[in-house]
Amino acid sequence: MDKKTINIGLMGLGNVGAGTYKTLEMNFDSILANTGIDFKITKILVKDLEKQRDINVPKDLLTQNPDDLVSDPNIDIIAELLGGIEPATDYMLKAMQNGKHVVTANKAAVAANFEVLRNAAEQNKVMFRYEASVAGGIPILNALTTALQANQFEEVLGILNGTTNYILTQMTDFGLNYADVLRIAQEKGFAEADPTDDVEGFDAANKLSILISLVFGKRVKPDEIPTEGITKITKEDIERATQTGHKVKLIASAKLENGKLNYSVKPTLLPLTHPLAGVSNEFNAVFVKGNAVGELMFYGKGAGPLPTGSAVMGDIIEIGKAIAKGASYDIKVAGGSK
Ligand code: HSE
Repeated sequence: MDKKTINIGLMGLGNVGAGTYKTLEMNFDSILANTGIDFKITKILVKDLEKQRDINVPKDLLTQNPDDLVSDPNIDIIAELLGGIEPATDYMLKAMQNGKHVVTANKAAVAANFEVLRNAAEQNKVMFRYEASVAGGIPILNALTTALQANQFEEVLGILNGTTNYILTQMTDFGLNYADVLRIAQEKGFAEADPTDDVEGFDAANKLSILISLVFGKRVKPDEIPTEGITKITKEDIERATQTGHKVKLIASAKLENGKLNYSVKPTLLPLTHPLAGVSNEFNAVFVKGNAVGELMFYGKGAGPLPTGSAVMGDIIEIGKAIAKGASYDIKVAGGSK
């Protein structure tokens, strides 16, 4: 039966949870007008019921018990925005077993448990989407699994972490010191709960692992990707790069060379003329080369509550539209057939 009200359970009300809540609140009328669907957040899982937050959320939506969401028969879609591999994966699997569609922004969980989550979605005939897990607001996963699906790819390369790009940009442009800029990136809601994941390159490796799965149909776990972060980059390194007409960027790349897939995440010197050299602050960019489409570059905000909330809500709306049409499961909405 067609359904015109879609109930959402939000897991997490940190930066991404709050950004998702705000995106829906800010654009509720236009989303309703465009889709005819009343999207309602009916429960929110939080750690602390009393915490002061800078968004106004009715207290009766909050719970500390994940079962209040994953076992609530009235909830159609769970948006998992907790971060971390566990218990997030466990909650997503339970939600799927209970027939709920799942959206996540959690690159660590998707990269670690890619097949498990996708197989669970298939077995339980629910939709599973994770656009926000790679490059924040940039719809790169959608593009790869829909408009670009006719291609075979040779290369994917990008700036996939907003925090480190913000740090490198501020150190380069304003000579600021690493620790101060990291603190600002945390205040702006770009950084992970534990920023080690950002600055050591692990977050970018998680995202590259997901991209490799979709671009090359090959499973490479994040810990198999040679990864180096930006913690060893000094002010002197940045000054030297500037003097020789270069920028230091944390580059994630995967390239097919003579039939072999090579991949890494590492700080890289780019000449100023390189298209990725101009990608500043929390912006991300993803470059792909397909055998039919040629070279493409996607650019946008890769971190921050609202850009990420935009991607989460995009997935929720897409699933809501499929539910309203009576579809219980759609492989395309599940993220492609690779
Ligand atoms: N900490 C991540 C970043 C958030 O800085 O890019 C978005 O995935």
